[in-house]
Amino acid sequence: MKNEPPKIDWDRLRELRDLFLQPEPITGPYWKSNRQLQDYDITLGERIGWKWDAVLEELKVRGWKPPSPSLTDMGCGTGVATRRMLRAFPGHFKKVTLWDHSEAAISYARQKLRHEFPDVRVICPSAPPHPKGVVLISHVLTELNDESAGEFLELMADAQAMLWVEPGTFETSRMLIEVREMLREEFKVVAPCTHQERCGILAQGNENHWCHHFANAPAKAHQDPFWGHFRKEMNLDVGPLAYSFLILEKEPELIAEGASHLIGKPMIMPKYVRVLSCQKEDVRELVAGRKTDGYRDLKQGVTPMLYRFELKKNRILSGKKVGEAAGTDH
Ligand SMILES: C[S@@+](CC[C@H](N)C(=O)[O-])C[C@H]1O[C@@H](n2cnc3c(N)ncnc32)[C@H](O)[C@@H]1O
Repeated sequence: MKNEPPKIDWDRLRELRDLFLQPEPITGPYWKSNRQLQDYDITLGERIGWKWDAVLEELKVRGWKPPSPSLTDMGCGTGVATRRMLRAFPGHFKKVTLWDHSEAAISYARQKLRHEFPDVRVICPSAPPHPKGVVLISHVLTELNDESAGEFLELMADAQAMLWVEPGTFETSRMLIEVREMLREEFKVVAPCTHQERCGILAQGNENHWCHHFANAPAKAHQDPFWGHFRKEMNLDVGPLAYSFLILEKEPELIAEGASHLIGKPMIMPKYVRVLSCQKEDVRELVAGRKTDGYRDLKQGVTPMLYRFELKKNRILSGKKVGEAAGTDH
């Protein structure tokens, strides 16, 4: 029998997306029903899941491991970030704490978690928790006003690690950079940066840049009629999806220190490729010619775009991907 595609209330979903896109902070809970949470979870939430998959893949390339078996999802919504994390590190997490100011969201997220991970203890406190293990924050920042953003950050004081993923827009990236600058004394920066200095995007001359990356949708989504329908109804691409992220940890093992992380998409010219590259010294444009070792990966934007470059001024002489060169990074 043919599998029926899930039925979605597209009008409701468009309304929800309009709410997310409006520039002012959102005051108070907005989830209206289980149906709405489910529609979100298999559409917009699933796309957020692809961003998390890209981030978690990069963390694995960097050799990162969660420093605690306890996980807290702040502003959990349907719990998509938590489920991606549990799938990426099977058996690692023993306890998950879900926090959201919407009770409907917590209840939905708990149900989904229990179903997929029956062995994990799920805790749903009645007041904002002070997490001591690993914290996830996903697509919450633009909903917070200054006061609640400050409160969120205060709650992080005892966390061992914080994984934060947001849309890859100019505004959100700049907000995350602000968070990075505020917390980089208390935490070490694991990613996207490969250094602990002030963010190079804040340097003079980089005013038009923002730190963002792209996550691919799984290949099968491009052939799936359900996602074709999504594209038409929501007027949204299935992928690649822009995201910004920030991974902080108190005592990490920093494997990619000194490497370069490319930002955005490579610009392909007839005879060379131009990339925006972030490293300890700066954020600046670099070029690689066709004969450059690593040119194909650079041109195709193979993710994660983490390299050890040999440079001559702004020319890349060779580029080795972090994690691939045997014996150098792992
Ligand atoms: C866009 S949804 C993202 C949900 C989920 N983290 C994800 O990535 O799919 C934002 C979530 O943050 C929650 N939220 C917003 N402001 C909050 C606050 N001050 N305290 C707790 N939760 C909040 C909302 O209720 C909503 O579930």
